[in-house]
Amino acid sequence: MIIAVVNLKGGVGKTTTAVHLAAGLHSPDSPVVLIDADPQASALTWAENADTPWETISLAIKSLDRRIGRYMRTAGAVHAIIDTPPGDLSITKGALLAADLIVIPLQPTGADVAQMAETADFVDAVRRETGAPAVVLLTRMVKGTVAARTIRETLEPFGLPILTAEVPQAQAVGMVYGQPVNDLGHYATVLEELKEVAAA
Ligand SMILES: Nc1ncnc2c1ncn2[C@@H]1O[C@H](COP(=O)(O)OP(=O)(O)OP(=O)(O)O)[C@@H](O)[C@H]1O
Ligand SMILES: [Mg+2]
Repeated sequence: MIIAVVNLKGGVGKTTTAVHLAAGLHSPDSPVVLIDADPQASALTWAENADTPWETISLAIKSLDRRIGRYMRTAGAVHAIIDTPPGDLSITKGALLAADLIVIPLQPTGADVAQMAETADFVDAVRRETGAPAVVLLTRMVKGTVAARTIRETLEPFGLPILTAEVPQAQAVGMVYGQPVNDLGHYATVLEELKEVAAA
């Protein structure tokens, strides 16, 4: 399975999501390669600092769709997670074309919603070629807020399915950057739901 974690907006939780999904999917029997397609290489730096058990490759290239199979074979990987940069249409397009499943992390803020149209349109255009399912993952959710209560309704016009599983705003998630991921937290439920979407 190839999962692309995509949002053209910056700072929405793409790298955090990509690394947790890699941690959850990786096992010696079905190894994961994390493709860091962001020139800032945050996922690679994370892997370096934490000595993560899965392979991480820095590949900020626009032809991922054509090359990913080769890199997965070289890494002996069964699954690939692609972490993408914000605002780079060429790299993001390659990642979307390569994907069997597209995950769009989104925070329930006005700025995130305002920029969602660009990402949603872009994802839609590429999905017309591949048919890969795309889902929104709500991240940094703060219980009891108006934003958390209304975000699903606000996103309805985009016509993208939204995962039932959500990732709360949590210091533990924010602080895990560069550390081993020993506890998937809510990402365990996210991963189970993603497997169901992929199998549907
Ligand atoms: N659930 C969470 N709770 C608290 N902090 C979080 C959570 N998810 C992510 N963060 C923090 O939010 C910031 C942005 O997250 P992250 O780097 O994953 O986003 P990104 O979309 O990859 O950003 P960029 O577009 O710059 O690559 C980071 O400091 C991260 O630690
Ligand atoms: Mg990132």
